[in-house]
Amino acid sequence: MTIGFLGAGKMAEGILSAIEDRKNVVMAEKVAERAAEMSRKYGVATTGDVREVAKKAKFFFLAVRPQDVDAVAAAVKPILTEKHTLVSIVAGKTLAKLRKAFGAKANLVRVMPNLALRANAGMCAICQAAKTPAKDVKLVEKILGGAGATVVLKEKDFDAVTALSGSGPAYFAYMEEAMVEGGVKLGLKPKVARLLAEQTMYGTAKFLRESGMDLRPFIEGVCTKGGTTAAGMEKLDVPKFKQIVAATLAAAAKRSRELA
Ligand SMILES: NC(=O)c1ccc[n+]([C@@H]2O[C@H](COP(=O)([O-])OP(=O)(O)OC[C@H]3O[C@@H](n4cnc5c(N)ncnc54)[C@H](OP(=O)(O)O)[C@@H]3O)[C@@H](O)[C@H]2O)c1
Repeated sequence: MTIGFLGAGKMAEGILSAIEDRKNVVMAEKVAERAAEMSRKYGVATTGDVREVAKKAKFFFLAVRPQDVDAVAAAVKPILTEKHTLVSIVAGKTLAKLRKAFGAKANLVRVMPNLALRANAGMCAICQAAKTPAKDVKLVEKILGGAGATVVLKEKDFDAVTALSGSGPAYFAYMEEAMVEGGVKLGLKPKVARLLAEQTMYGTAKFLRESGMDLRPFIEGVCTKGGTTAAGMEKLDVPKFKQIVAATLAAAAKRSRELA
């Protein structure tokens, strides 16, 4: 089966790197040097014309930026049939908008990824349009599952997903930045503080995912009464911290609704 990509940017590369058998992959990319790079690095076929992908592949990812979607849709729409499945990772493009742009024939799947896809540790929410065969959604789960975790959700949840896992990398990086700055104030070298903060963030997430442990007992377990973590948490664990995080997500979800 041929798998296509419309756009071969950063996110497309993240997905591509999770595909084991790349001999039947074809990518359309406007920037010739980028197309050549994909071909050199991954041995995939490339073209400068999105129509070539729609002709060769019945299953393809739409991975251009939101402002380029209409031009791509206008080019491929006449080629699309009921046998085509288009998997969009474009932020903010609802299934209704995609349907309008690409026409009634092709099957649609909408995905909200995050940038950790580029490190094979992405979080992808997947939404199936009406009439899209279940086997296509399974295939999307299989491919994206190779580049991180997946969850199948209704589209009504996508603003919340955008706020939490879509925007989340920036929030965690901001927390890391704050911890690095705090570490430097305590006398650590910035490079060392970054390693300590980053590995701690990574290791904590890894442990929680692998153990499945509930968060409350985990937090309480680390916070021995009278110990150092408890002293730190006293400063952090005021209700305001959770209120700020909730307000952060609410603002991002609101913006996502406005942009949709
Ligand atoms: N990056 C993230 O964290 C993130 C998270 C969630 C969702 N997404 C979504 O993922 C999508 C891709 O993002 P990205 O960061 O991978 O973007 P990107 O690196 O800019 O990649 C898009 C590529 O598509 C090319 N392109 C545009 N129009 C084309 C056409 N008609 N034919 C062939 N190639 C074309 C672009 O070329 P030019 O540069 O010349 O236009 C660019 O090389 C976006 O829609 C974004 O909303 C991204």
